[in-house]
Amino acid sequence: MKIAVFAGDGIGPEVTREAVRVLEALALPGLELIEGDVGGAAYKRHGHPLPQATLDIARECDAILFGAVGDPDCDNLERSLRPEQAILGLRKAMGFFANLRPARVFAGLEDFSALRPEVAGAIDLLIVRELNGDVYFGEKGIRKLEDGRRQGWDMMSYAEDEVRRIAHVGFKAAQGRAKPGEKGKLCSVDKANVLETSQLWRDVMIEVSADYPDVELSHMYVDNAAMQLVRNPGQFDVIVTGNLFGDILSDQASMCVGSIGLLASASLSEGTSGLYEPIHGSAPDIAGKGLANPMATILSAAMLLRHSLGFEAQAARIEAAVAKTLADGIRGGDLGGSFGTAAIGDAVLERL
Ligand code: NAD
Ligand code: IPM
Ligand code: MN
Repeated sequence: MKIAVFAGDGIGPEVTREAVRVLEALALPGLELIEGDVGGAAYKRHGHPLPQATLDIARECDAILFGAVGDPDCDNLERSLRPEQAILGLRKAMGFFANLRPARVFAGLEDFSALRPEVAGAIDLLIVRELNGDVYFGEKGIRKLEDGRRQGWDMMSYAEDEVRRIAHVGFKAAQGRAKPGEKGKLCSVDKANVLETSQLWRDVMIEVSADYPDVELSHMYVDNAAMQLVRNPGQFDVIVTGNLFGDILSDQASMCVGSIGLLASASLSEGTSGLYEPIHGSAPDIAGKGLANPMATILSAAMLLRHSLGFEAQAARIEAAVAKTLADGIRGGDLGGSFGTAAIGDAVLERL
């Protein structure tokens, strides 16, 4: 079993280091970790944010543990060379189209949510975000109009097969999370009142729902979804949505839970391989200071063991160790505490 470790930029290496310590502590037989360069770090070393050598490692491994990419030094590079192209390129090249972003409130953290504790306490949801399409991957550019004004444009589109495959992921997730004897709950979030892309999205969701009589499908416009997520997040179980809406709603969900430093993610293809990363970025404002919360990355490593390597028990052990660490009051600055990155890693390891 080979795991690629792409730490990237900013706090990426800091949080990835702690997740690697956790993986190593499990001493899984035959596990090999292979490091590769991505993002601004790769650009500075090799002239490209996603060098061929890194792609080769990604292809040879069973799963990828990813830190974060993004470097203010690189913000003026042409788009194809910006650090973010590493993660976008990996998602596309590897066919990681299904992004699972679970959000739940850990016991004892209700008071740290940006919401009232009784509202926050009910959060246990999963955002299923499409990752290979939408406005992210359409034609784009900045062009000069005839009258000399510049115009920026990004094409939003989804083909029906792209919607269908993420719909199946959403319905299956809702099925899997249903309580015994109850129907699964899937809420499809779109902007079908305005966007044709969303109308097709909604039509396909309804079509696919025929295959899942045990799942109750509902639809919500994205603006209302943003509001409902803070008004009454407990109403959601699985949310399925497009690339851009999913990006925004998942950052919002993180603050409902308490911190963006807690939200993990899995980016999956049709097979067992996947990329696992915290939903946060490289956090240049705290990079290099040992202040980042590594829990989102540690929880991503747990998702890796579960989804790509089939180590359910070990994944659950990691999740329990993180929950216990939080319950014991060991928290980073993002949660009003004073523990640094390595100290949080130590605390999780002790409990593991
Ligand atoms: P960000 O997620 O990096 O940071 C937003 C805020 O959250 C910052 O104040 C940061 O300090 C805080 N934060 C983030 N992670 C934290 C953690 N683990 N512990 C404590 N605090 C944490 O978002 P941004 O500032 O908008 O973006 C910074 C860079 O990261 C940009 O270049 C962006 O493109 C990139 N980015 C990359 C990814 C990725 O690699 N998948 C994701 C998001 C953003
Ligand atoms: C994320 C990030 C990325 C995205 C960026 C860095 C390309 O925000 O993983 O959530 O928009 O998908
Ligand atoms: Mn994001």
